[in-house]
Amino acid sequence: HTPEPIFSLADYEKASRHMMDEGIWHYIHGGAGDGITLARNQSAFDDIRLMPRVLAAGLPDMRCSLLGGRLAAPILLAPVALQRLVHRDGELASVAAAMAQDCGFVLSTLTSSPMATVAQSAVSARKGAASAISKGASPPLWFQLYIQPDWQDTLSLIRRAEEAGFAALVITVDAPITGLRLAELRAGFSVPEHIQPVDLAGMKPAPTSLEALLAAAPNWHCIEAVCAATRLPVLLKGVLSPEDALKAKALGIAGVVVSNHGGRVLDGVPGTIECLAAVRAAVGPEMTVLLDGGIRRGSDIAKALCLGADAVLIGRPLMQALACEGALGVARMLKILKDELAMVMALLGAKRLNDLNPHCLWKQSCC
Ligand code: FNR
Repeated sequence: HTPEPIFSLADYEKASRHMMDEGIWHYIHGGAGDGITLARNQSAFDDIRLMPRVLAAGLPDMRCSLLGGRLAAPILLAPVALQRLVHRDGELASVAAAMAQDCGFVLSTLTSSPMATVAQSAVSARKGAASAISKGASPPLWFQLYIQPDWQDTLSLIRRAEEAGFAALVITVDAPITGLRLAELRAGFSVPEHIQPVDLAGMKPAPTSLEALLAAAPNWHCIEAVCAATRLPVLLKGVLSPEDALKAKALGIAGVVVSNHGGRVLDGVPGTIECLAAVRAAVGPEMTVLLDGGIRRGSDIAKALCLGADAVLIGRPLMQALACEGALGVARMLKILKDELAMVMALLGAKRLNDLNPHCLWKQSCC
C-alpha cells in the first residue's frame, strides 16, 4: 500500500520511489547523457499555455478510434520492457488495467510475461469490463517490435503476435543502440535472473560491441520487409524528423509515434511536443500520429492533441503506478488522466477531441 493518498501522476512518482530498489529506480527514471532531453520532454509542455473559453463548458466526449480500435480517451500505455521488475503481475496487470479503462496497450518485445498470456489477460479483462464503449470493438492491443539480428527471429515474433491477436505492429526505430544512462550504470543495475524477456528465449542475442550492433542495425529495407510479411497495420515509433515521417508514409506505414524513447537514447534532441506540429504538417491530416514523452497531466494530453496528435502514450507513470498498486494503480493512473483531460476540455470549451486545435493555445507560447 502507498503511504500517501494519490491525486496525481506526480503522487505516484513520489510514492513509487519507496516501492523499488535503487537500481530499478534508476533503470526506469534515467535519461541518456546529461538528461537534457528527459527534462525537456516535460518542460516543453510547461512552456505551452492554454487559452480558455468562457461560458462554453459542457461534458466533453473523449472517445476516439485508432486503426480500428475504440478508446474511451486518447490514451495508450507505452511499450515498457520487463514490467515484472516492479510488480509480480507485470504486463498481465497493466494490460488488464488498460482494457478495463478502455485505453490502449502496447506490449514491448522485451515483455517479462509471455505475449500469449498477456493477450489472454486482455481478453479476460474485456469480458469483465462493464464499461465497454462500443459493442464489438476493443481498445488497441498492439505489439511493439524490435527487429532482431536474425530475420527468422523477427518473423517468429510477428507470427506469434498475429496469432495471439495483437492488432498492429509498432516498430521502434529510435534505439538501434542502448543509450548511455549513467545513473543506471553507477547504481550497478542489472536485470535479475528471474525476470527476463521471455519471448526472446532461444533467439540470437544482440551483439555486445558497438561496431557489431551498428553493423546489424535495422534500415528502411527491414521496414519494407516487415510490411511485406504481415497484414497488420505497421507504425514506426521514435520519429522526430518530418522527412522520416514522410518516408514512412510513402512506404505505406499506417502511423508514426513522435517519440525520443523518453529521453533514454540520444540526449540533446528536442522535447517531443516541440517536434509534433512539423510532423503533422508533413504527413497531412489523415495519417495516424501519436506522441509520447513527458505526458504527466490531462493538460499535456490536450496540448498534444491541439498540436496534431491523435492520441498519446504513457511510459514511466505506468511503472510507478504498477509498482505502488498493481493493476488497480495503473487503472487509477489512467482514470486520473481521463478526469483531468475532461476538466481541461470543459474549460477550453472543447466538446469533442476534434475541437482541440491551435486556437486553444495561447499564441505567444506555441508558434
Ligand atoms: C521504455 N521505452 C521502451 N520503448 C520501446 O519501444 N520498447 C521498450 O521495450 C521500451 N522499454 C522502456 C523501458 C523503460 C523503463 C522506459 C522508461 C521506457 C520507451 C517508452 O515506450 C516511451 O517511449 C517513453 O517511456 C515515453 O516517455 P515517458 O512517458 O516515460 O516520459
